[in-house]
Amino acid sequence: MLAVLGVLPLAAQTAGAPPRAASAPVAATVQQPASNWTRLEKDGLHDPLGPGIGLLQQPGDALQFLPRDTAGNLVRWVQALERGFIVPRSNLRPETEVRLREDELIVARNGSMPAVKFPHRAHTLWLDCSNCHESLFKSKLGANGLRMTAILNGEQCGLCHGAVAFPLTECNRCHSVPNAALRAPAQAAVP
Ligand code: HEC
Ligand code: HEC
Ligand code: HEC
Repeated sequence: MLAVLGVLPLAAQTAGAPPRAASAPVAATVQQPASNWTRLEKDGLHDPLGPGIGLLQQPGDALQFLPRDTAGNLVRWVQALERGFIVPRSNLRPETEVRLREDELIVARNGSMPAVKFPHRAHTLWLDCSNCHESLFKSKLGANGLRMTAILNGEQCGLCHGAVAFPLTECNRCHSVPNAALRAPAQAAVP
């Protein structure tokens, strides 16, 4: 555990921040080779001949120490946060109220795919309520007409997923609950 954290490049930048309660123990993470990430001079965005290229940190140098993912930018960001690999500041101004919400909502059920579970916690660790409510999503279960076609068009969940959060190719990360698992307790609850 300490060996992993000891080499964390971000640790120096976050020193002094209050430790976040880790919900899961930091398991030994198999480090990925830095070569898994495209180097800046080859990413098509940075000028390979520019004088700044040698000064910038390469993505692989920073990200190789974080819990690995197989898609997107190859980091499982929620785990990186929950397990204390990164400790970003929650607010810049002391008067900002930091709001967390822990409930998990089933926002789609009984389709051809497993049901979709929306975890508020994984979102409010990074975002404020106002990033989503009330303009993007009404804070009422079932009130938003969620549709996969809209999501694939970059709306609703797709505003972030595929852009700044894990990509839409990871179907099962959203469609994570077998429909059968929902039917049994629901029937038991209805008299
Ligand atoms: C970011 C979360 C997310 C990801 C990733 C995602 N979906 Fe969805 N999907 C949803 C939501 C939300 C709905 C919506 C609601 C509904 O239909 O009630 C939905 C609906 C659907 C539906 C229609 C409902 C059903 O179950 O038949 C299909 C089919 C579907 N998704 C397939 C996929 C496939 C295939 C992938 C991967 C290529 C995928 N989804 C990835 C969130 C996601
Ligand atoms: C990433 C976007 C996002 C953020 C951030 C977010 N929510 Fe939500 N919230 C949703 C979605 C999606 C739903 C489900 C809406 C639906 O079913 O159509 C929801 C539903 C709700 C509901 C209705 C739940 C129920 O059980 O009926 C409440 C209340 C709510 N949110 C409050 C909050 C509060 C308070 C915060 C901040 C602490 C917050 N939300 C942050 C996306 C978000
Ligand atoms: C405002 C941006 C935003 C919107 C809108 C949004 N998400 Fe997310 N979501 C994030 C971020 C940021 C993360 C954390 C980074 C990551 O996992 O890539 C995340 C994480 C998640 C996770 C947890 C992944 C894990 O590893 O535990 C799930 C599941 C998820 N989102 C589903 C949804 C669904 C379903 C919707 C639509 C109902 C949605 N999100 C809408 C930004 C958003």
